[in-house]
Amino acid sequence: MPLAPAGFGRMAQRLLWAGLLGAFVVLQTRAEIPVQPGFQQDKFLGRWFCTGLASNSTWLREKKAVLSMCSSAAAPTADGGLNLTSTFLRNNQCETRTMLLQPAGTPGRYSYTSPHWGSTHDVSVVETNYSQYALLLTAGAKGPGRDFVLASLYSRTQQPSVEAKEKFTALARALGLTDDAIVFLPPTDKCMEKST
Ligand SMILES: *[C@@H]1O[C@H](CO)[C@@H](O)[C@H](O)[C@H]1NC(C)=O
Ligand SMILES: *[C@@H]1O[C@H](CO)[C@@H](O)[C@H](O)[C@H]1NC(C)=O
Ligand SMILES: *[C@@H]1O[C@H](CO)[C@@H](O)[C@H](O)[C@H]1NC(C)=O
Repeated sequence: MPLAPAGFGRMAQRLLWAGLLGAFVVLQTRAEIPVQPGFQQDKFLGRWFCTGLASNSTWLREKKAVLSMCSSAAAPTADGGLNLTSTFLRNNQCETRTMLLQPAGTPGRYSYTSPHWGSTHDVSVVETNYSQYALLLTAGAKGPGRDFVLASLYSRTQQPSVEAKEKFTALARALGLTDDAIVFLPPTDKCMEKST
């Protein structure tokens, strides 16, 4: 190695380590996010309730006391992806959000670009048995300051099974989230009507 002034050398080393570490963390996160083997999108379509959220975003910490269950419809899009449209109660009104998930190679893996923030996220169906529950994971943000992980528990009914809740909690803990970052959303009869 060529000799360099000590200060410069130390800085270069730090940058190098930061870079390597950064690359390692990204690779590890990508590789660690599992996807439901043999995922079949057609069996995933239809109505779901979002019954649990877990995230290290400050948004969830601030809002968790006022959030309630939402109703979602999963429909296919022309590009082979998913249109996930959710309806939920916010400030005493029903609000609807559409997430257009573009296919990302492997079945069950998608890419989502937020029209509002311009950030891009990887969304995976980590596990589902189609008839009862689905665990979704949003991670790996690229773009302005949206660096968080979000796990969601989707359920075909408003009462997720104990097993499904346990799977969700285990996933959240495996992501390094603490129990105060895991929220089971209370059922509501507001804004739950079929939104198609
Ligand atoms: C899905 O899981 C539930 C229990 O969590 C079970 O009752 C149901 O039979 C499962 N469905 C399939 C298709 O495996
Ligand atoms: C949330 O967790 C992910 C994955 O562990 C991490 O990359 C990210 O920096 C965290 N974000 C915040 C805001 O803590
Ligand atoms: C997504 O689904 C919603 C609700 O069914 C619908 O209103 C909207 O037009 C769909 N958007 C696209 C781009 O498919």
